[in-house]
Order: sequence, then C-alpha cells, then structure tokens
Amino acid sequence: MLLEISKVTTGYGRMPVVWDLDLTVAEGEIVALLGPNGAGKTTALLTAGGFLRPMSGTITLDGASITAVPPYRLSRHGLAAVTDDRALLPSLTVQENLALVRNRRSDPLALFPELERLMGRRAGLLSGGEQQMLALARALCSRPKAILLDELSQGLAPLVVERCLKALTDAAAEWGLGVLLVEQNVSEALKVADRACVLSHGRVALESDAASLREDTGLIESSYLGEAGAGPGTDPGPGSGTTARGGSAGSG
Ligand SMILES: Nc1ncnc2c1ncn2[C@@H]1O[C@H](COP(=O)(O)OP(=O)(O)O)[C@@H](O)[C@H]1O
Ligand SMILES: [Mg+2]
Repeated sequence: MLLEISKVTTGYGRMPVVWDLDLTVAEGEIVALLGPNGAGKTTALLTAGGFLRPMSGTITLDGASITAVPPYRLSRHGLAAVTDDRALLPSLTVQENLALVRNRRSDPLALFPELERLMGRRAGLLSGGEQQMLALARALCSRPKAILLDELSQGLAPLVVERCLKALTDAAAEWGLGVLLVEQNVSEALKVADRACVLSHGRVALESDAASLREDTGLIESSYLGEAGAGPGTDPGPGSGTTARGGSAGSG
C-alpha cells in the first residue's frame, strides 16, 4: 500500500478529534475524504502531512514509517501536501515560487501551461484559481508518490476545479500518484475518486467505492447525518463494497 494510515487517533493538545482512523491510498488511486464541517477531515490530513503528531497509530508511505517525520522532510519521502492556505509566498512571483521547489522532476509549465503568462506576477495578486494551479504545479513538479489536498475546490469556479482535478487524475494515470482529496464538494470529489470515506464526528461513518456512491447519493446523505440520523440499528441499505459503520454505539 502506498499511503497507509492505521488506527490513528489525533487532535489538538490532549484532546482527540479523530479516533482510530484507518485509511489507505494505493498507487494511482484517488481517495476522497468527505464529511460535514468539523468532522475532522483537516485534522486527519494535517496529521498525515506531519503538521500534527498523532496521539496513537501509525502512518506509512511506501512501506516506510512517516509517523514522526516533520512536514519539511516529507517531500523527500515523496509526500506532497496542499493545505487550504495553499502555502504560497504572496510577495514572490509565480516564477520565484516555482523556483523554490528543490527536487523538480517535471516542468511545472507542462503541467499547467496556464501559468506561463503569469510567471512575472506576484502570487498574492493571482486569482484564487490561479493560486490553486500554482500550488498544484509546485506540488506536482517534484513527482511525489502521494499528495494530500485540503478543500481544493473551495472558492473556485467549476471550470477551474475541473482543470485542477484533471491534473490529479492525469498524474495518477501517468506516474501512479496516490491522491487523498479532502473535500466538502461531494459531487466534484466523487467524479474523480475511486473510493470515498466519510468522516462524521471524528470517526469513519461510511467507506465505499466511489461508483456505488455516485449511483446511490442517499448513502452519503445518511452518513452525513452521523449520530443524529443513522444511529445503531438503522439499515444503511444494500451496496456492494460499502461499509456503513454504526453511529453512536460505543464499545464497552
Ligand atoms: N487548532 C485547533 N485547536 C483545537 N481544536 C481544533 C483546532 N482546529 C480544529 N479543531 C477542532 O477539531 C474538530 C475537527 O476540525 P477539522 O479537522 O478542521 O474539521 P473539518 O476539516 O472536517 O471541517 C472540530 O471540532 C474543530 O473545532
Ligand atoms: Mg477542513
């Protein structure tokens, strides 16, 4: 398995907000991590990206443990992250932002030709969509093994979202990039995902292949209701490859 998050409990200070998370991304696979606001998606992504240290559990990339590796070292291991702030240097130009990538292995302009005419512009003056393309170009040009993305679609026009998602599906097909896509935009995420996992109140409420979820959108809706709606005993309905986990049923 390319990226393997096993039994990870994580949060802030001593307060966990995500419990016992198991999540895998295979080579060339796109996994969507969905769930309502506050479910713990960003926390899970920040933990996988080394920004938060898990309280328990392990994270491996390509068989090597990356559980305690700080974010600035993870690129060497082949893990890229685009967090929701996009981490660009706003006073530097597009060209300068791209030049800061140390181990460049593809031409960022081949990935995003749209950036060519913007090379001399300061990143802070780009539109949201242009900034997201720059962030993706930066992350992808080192040809990482896996990439973590937080709310890629947020605030972007649908065409730009599609464009960015296409860059990810291309990379998955071209060099086997594994993608963990944290999204509030369920329909866009399901268009490109192979599998999806829904977090609710810090726990996995539903795990499924994306095709089943595209067919039956009710599954996602009921998992979003989490403990309030799909409590223990609620039949999540049939569906091959779909696992709905009980809501508030505590063990012990
Ligand atoms: N820096 C923080 N300190 C303490 N609690 C936080 C912090 N960031 C987020 N949280 C809490 O963690 C929970 C999960 O948040 P988050 O991972 O951002 O959810 P999501 O990305 O799914 O919207 C929420 O209850 C949120 O209030
Ligand atoms: Mg978030």
